[in-house]
Amino acid sequence: MAGLLEGKSALVTGGGSGIGRATALAFAREGAWVAVADLTLERAQETVGAIEAAGGQAVAIACDVTEEEAVAAMVAAAVSAFGGLDCAFNNAGIAPFQVNAAGVKAADLAPEAWQRILDVNLTGVWRCLRHEVAQMRRQGGGAIVNTASIAGLLGLPTAAAYVASKHAVVGLTRAAAVDHAEEGIRVNAVCPGYIETPMTEDSMRRRGERIMARVPLARMGQAEEIAQAVTFLCSDRASFVTGAAWTVDGGYAAV
Ligand SMILES: NC(=O)c1ccc[n+]([C@@H]2O[C@H](COP(=O)([O-])OP(=O)(O)OC[C@H]3O[C@@H](n4cnc5c(N)ncnc54)[C@H](O)[C@@H]3O)[C@@H](O)[C@H]2O)c1
Repeated sequence: MAGLLEGKSALVTGGGSGIGRATALAFAREGAWVAVADLTLERAQETVGAIEAAGGQAVAIACDVTEEEAVAAMVAAAVSAFGGLDCAFNNAGIAPFQVNAAGVKAADLAPEAWQRILDVNLTGVWRCLRHEVAQMRRQGGGAIVNTASIAGLLGLPTAAAYVASKHAVVGLTRAAAVDHAEEGIRVNAVCPGYIETPMTEDSMRRRGERIMARVPLARMGQAEEIAQAVTFLCSDRASFVTGAAWTVDGGYAAV
């Protein structure tokens, strides 16, 4: 039976860890050729190695999504590797603890921490989307998924810059979906809840019990469970889905 993404070419940012790695592997299992991008080539190569070991095809690309030239080169490299770009998962992101802002309230954030989170999580997505749309336009269409979060729908404690960046990713997703629909480009967001990856280790250590008490399914999600949703949104099965912000959160945002 043909895979959901058979014959498609795909790009994943933040593909060297967590949700990005699981999604790159899922894309490849469903028949896509995958360009795996991350901050360091080594991380991206580890994911490519896992894809190749499972019989898939992938290339590794080093790219910092805060650097315009690197983002342009990343999209160009993906296109030249596979002759086009059908699916893009804009997923690279950072959490407050990565800018020394764990446990810091909104008004107490250092301006540099605020700026860095916005630059990676929001402007990084827009930088990637610009170049992806330019290619998809030339081809006559494509599908883009941006990683937002339940923090894109709700206020969470001591995460103001993160929450603001993810709300903005949902807004950017909706606006881009409207703007590019007539060009055959679908743009959606996935809104993960608490998923077991390196990113959540810090908050789970600090307030894991309180968080889990709020999750109707009473557990953390697995990166693979996000990968399944993203694969569907990128596939032709989601042909009428655009501008959506899809929660995959064990019911967190439903309470
Ligand atoms: N884990 C969760 O519970 C959760 C929940 C909601 C949303 N998210 C979002 O999912 C995405 C992936 O997170 P994860 O949990 O897999 O975390 P992770 O830390 O395991 O992976 C994030 C990846 O992004 C890469 N990255 C960071 N800054 C980058 C930059 N400037 N340029 C390129 N790559 C960069 C990192 O190197 C890393 O490989 C993020 O956008 C995160 O905000 C995660």
